[in-house]
Amino acid sequence: MSKSDFGLIGLAVMGQNLVLNVESRGFQVSVYNRTTSVMSDWVAKHPDKKIVGEVTLEGFVESLASPRKIMIMVKAGGPVDKVIESLIPLLDEGDIIIDGGNSLYTDTERRDKWLGDLGFRFIGAGVSGGEEGARKGPSIMPGGPVSTWDVMKPIFESISAKVDGEPCVTHIGTGGAGHYVKMIHNGIEYGDMQLICEAYSIFKKAGFTPAELAKVFTDWNDGDLESYLIQITAKIFEQKDPETGGALVDMVLDTAGQKGTGRWTLINAVENAVVISTINAAVEARILSSMKDKRVEASKFLKGPEVEISTEKAELVKKVHDALFASKIISYAQGLDLIATMGAEKDWGLDLGQIAAIWRGGCIIRARFLNDITDAYRKDPELSNLMLAPFFTGLLNEFQQNWREVVSIASLAGIPVPAFSASLGYYDSYRSAVLPANLLQSQRDFFGAHTYERTDKPRGEFFHTEWPEVIG
Ligand SMILES: NC(=O)c1ccc[n+]([C@@H]2O[C@H](COP(=O)([O-])OP(=O)(O)OC[C@H]3O[C@@H](n4cnc5c(N)ncnc54)[C@H](OP(=O)(O)O)[C@@H]3O)[C@@H](O)[C@H]2O)c1
Repeated sequence: MSKSDFGLIGLAVMGQNLVLNVESRGFQVSVYNRTTSVMSDWVAKHPDKKIVGEVTLEGFVESLASPRKIMIMVKAGGPVDKVIESLIPLLDEGDIIIDGGNSLYTDTERRDKWLGDLGFRFIGAGVSGGEEGARKGPSIMPGGPVSTWDVMKPIFESISAKVDGEPCVTHIGTGGAGHYVKMIHNGIEYGDMQLICEAYSIFKKAGFTPAELAKVFTDWNDGDLESYLIQITAKIFEQKDPETGGALVDMVLDTAGQKGTGRWTLINAVENAVVISTINAAVEARILSSMKDKRVEASKFLKGPEVEISTEKAELVKKVHDALFASKIISYAQGLDLIATMGAEKDWGLDLGQIAAIWRGGCIIRARFLNDITDAYRKDPELSNLMLAPFFTGLLNEFQQNWREVVSIASLAGIPVPAFSASLGYYDSYRSAVLPANLLQSQRDFFGAHTYERTDKPRGEFFHTEWPEVIG
């Protein structure tokens, strides 16, 4: 039998679908899985495909054409190291290992060095799009040496999603850049999902039925909010529960899980002193959702307002649309700011326009407005903040009044909208030439002699005041 063009280890949902995708583009693929029965059962279901199932890792490595291209699609963390360790004695210099899982970028940097020192080539590639993306065309965010990317480019470009003929894959940068950008992509995904949930929460309180909600989201998906997440949300509202006959969404318990990429994004933002308050609110909203028992208990004691939402439904839909869109712009502005900051710190040479472009298809956050983000960065690669691209400045100026009204409607009705509010707080802080930090810095100088700069003196001159003593 001829040698395979590509090898994949880890036949869970992502691995299986990626193999089918790669095979469908004319490549022969060898596969290996720790639990052999998973591999053999799955391969047996695809007798007509150019898929070679291998029972041993030795046989798997032997079945691949040189230089070997091996993608690891196993559980992130320790399992990736275990697989790499067992591959090392079997590989030849110049062979390529691709980690396609959701690895922490610092692990990717460590593996890049580890494998590079041994003469192997390593790519840390974020893959987004879930099961369907993996099968039909994901968005792929590969990081590593340009020379290794050049070898992998034909396969990556053929399996990725395409938008306007452009493949949704690009060389992100060296080292851990690919997994880093995938991590921020996931953080942005958290933000998008939470913002949609807050819109839902307001509509629900205003008495919208699941059918009305499905109509709102379907209409939105035909307009400027068009995106995969808005589209699936409309479908969710249409889904009936076979047991009760009601809407399935009403039967789903209100506790959300998370796997960690949102938290990693927050940690990295704090380390880089970049504000990502929308994503922060989204991660915290999941944490609060998971505290179901405590919330149920607290709801018996802590009062909220007895206020109905009186805004007429069509008007409310327009206002919430504006609040959602404005908050979404803020979320992307923050996420891209973090990417730019980290890219500069690491000297990754990131191209934000190209990153936005490869998110337009295949991935969970794919959305029409990513075309506008791509345009904004292509017009001005040095853009300091997405809010200041003329197109987005115009939208924010148009939406800001309704956005405020939605936050106040929600607040007066006791509906938690942490991501809408955090986004608006960022917007108002960022556009404020003057903030109350004059008082804050005075406090710091009072108790810690931290000094302050003066409004009437050049920047960089520091002053200290002998404040009155406080007794007690
Ligand atoms: N699911 C998604 O929608 C999605 C989307 C994007 C990215 N990802 C990322 O893609 C990767 C794969 O995701 P997944 O959902 O397909 O699978 P997963 O549930 O994360 O991992 C299961 C796979 O890992 C293997 N595995 C676990 N521990 C192992 C070990 N110690 N040694 C060797 N193999 C081990 C399992 O083999 P056995 O069969 O032997 O247990 C199985 O093939 C993950 O990093 C995930 O975060 C997932």
